[in-house]
Amino acid sequence: MFKKTFVTVIAATTLALTACGGGAGTGGGGGGSEDGITMGFAQVGAESGWRTANTKSVQESAKEAGVDLKFSDAQQKQENQIKAIRSYIQQQVDVIAFSPVVESGWDTVLKEAKDADIPVILTDRSVDSADTSLYKTFLGSDFVEEGKKAGDWLVEDSASTEGPVNIVELQGTTGAAPAIDRKEGFEAAIAADPDLKIVESQTGDFTRSGGKQVMEAFLKNTPDIDVVYAHNDDMGLGAIEAIEAAGKVPGKDIKIITVDAVKDGMAALAEGKINYIVECNPLLGDQLMDLAAKVVAGEEVPARVVTEESAFTPEQAKEVLASREY
Ligand code: AHR
Repeated sequence: MFKKTFVTVIAATTLALTACGGGAGTGGGGGGSEDGITMGFAQVGAESGWRTANTKSVQESAKEAGVDLKFSDAQQKQENQIKAIRSYIQQQVDVIAFSPVVESGWDTVLKEAKDADIPVILTDRSVDSADTSLYKTFLGSDFVEEGKKAGDWLVEDSASTEGPVNIVELQGTTGAAPAIDRKEGFEAAIAADPDLKIVESQTGDFTRSGGKQVMEAFLKNTPDIDVVYAHNDDMGLGAIEAIEAAGKVPGKDIKIITVDAVKDGMAALAEGKINYIVECNPLLGDQLMDLAAKVVAGEEVPARVVTEESAFTPEQAKEVLASREY
């Protein structure tokens, strides 16, 4: 179904470019490959298992859809992403897609893309620009909802517990939409139980080594940690290493909640080292190619496309682990 729509749109786009003589300034960028769309994709980096799966999904879907993909890895630096976007503008790609490292500071470069008549699609993470005409659509998860799901589980799990529950939070990259929103959603949910308190909160930059390092410091400074809330699996897995090195049992002495549900996280959940994982789906490639075809063809697309996601207990992880794609 997707492929059929895509081929039709490609054919229409090629015709339109031929009729206009192709090249820059023909609307929707132009200057792409002759037989398909050229997309510039500025990726965040390779900081987590989730990111690796997301990159693979985008690259495979582009190949399948006949999209000429120009891919760059910003190594979690905003200035690298801005440079990549500027180079895509210079190359007059047909469409630019990117997953912003942080939420703020994009207006100037997005305006440059708009002035060059190149449509932009936000994928995975959003920006806080007041001018929403700077991009065509935002495809990705509802991060606030993910944080709420994590908090709701803890409220229910702690319902029979007497006394304070000390939570330490491993935040994602400072200023990144998932770090801001997952914190917000979690805090809103745990407000339902005054015994639940975040006693320490620091960034582990969405990496396993960051999660381990911050957790080691938490364990040194805070005597009674009951729960770790990690904004992604990788930081949770790093925290497990630190907890085990401190002679404690992850999942029992200290409960762990994470977000993503990548294979390594699901394996730890099935083993009982993590207690609950909220899913964040990285497989955005097909939907991205579909949206790209539409925006390049000048068709209307929804301003927001939210990814469908679930959450897993250890029992559920055992059931799905073998068939997990990423
Ligand atoms: O933006 C999505 C987040 O970025 C994922 O949860 C995390 O693992 C990644 O690095």
